[in-house]
Amino acid sequence: MSKLIIANWKMNPKTAREAVRLAKVEDKTGVVIAPPLAFIDVIRKTVRHAKIAAQNAAGEEKGPWTGEVSPAMLASLGVRYVILGHSERRMKLHETDADIAKKIVAALDVGLKVILCVGEPLSVRKKGTIAAKRFVKDQLSVDLKGIKNFKFQISNLVIAYEPVWAISTSGGGKETPEDAAAMAKNIREFVHFKLRISHFKLLYGGSVSGMNARGFLARKEFDGVLVGSASLKPKEFRKILRAGNR
Ligand code: PGA
Repeated sequence: MSKLIIANWKMNPKTAREAVRLAKVEDKTGVVIAPPLAFIDVIRKTVRHAKIAAQNAAGEEKGPWTGEVSPAMLASLGVRYVILGHSERRMKLHETDADIAKKIVAALDVGLKVILCVGEPLSVRKKGTIAAKRFVKDQLSVDLKGIKNFKFQISNLVIAYEPVWAISTSGGGKETPEDAAAMAKNIREFVHFKLRISHFKLLYGGSVSGMNARGFLARKEFDGVLVGSASLKPKEFRKILRAGNR
């Protein structure tokens, strides 16, 4: 099965013009581009092969939520995926696991595919891998609470393990494919235990580059990678595409 490569542009680039240029480089089958909300429409009209993700969505359907965007609105723009629970939103915007749980249900409810990000911060990792595993389980336990008795397509749930300390802009520490794979096993077992499902996609994210992508993509524990900074650099991203045989 070919692996998924997610390009999380975060709040970049500055203009729609630059965004279109970047999207043309990344427009390959099996790639999911997550542009800022402002560029979603123009990027969707630009790409032919890649799918589009939003970087966030509201946990509400409609109403007095100034500045928020509902999952149904995104779906109506042709968005197929939504990233939820990214560590930057958890930490800088104080999004809680309870908020994320609500958003997951709202997104799945309109048929969007959810890319749920989980991962431990440096302070937890320093305590060792058992503490890190417990931390991630605690996140999952609340994040997935709402979908326990909820009917949805298993292929619509994607989980990305992103150790916060390994994300390029919040530490850039070096996670190894071996350690990440051990965490992946832990995540898969826990989700199976909680929800009785095991055939969901699991991704790795955190400083994925042209240099290390092959190591993560080669592991059977991972169904793909979530790429931040390197997705803004065409040369680097092309290397990742090659590592994923695109
Ligand atoms: P990075 O970002 O690839 O720049 O580490 C990954 C992410 O934050 O999703």
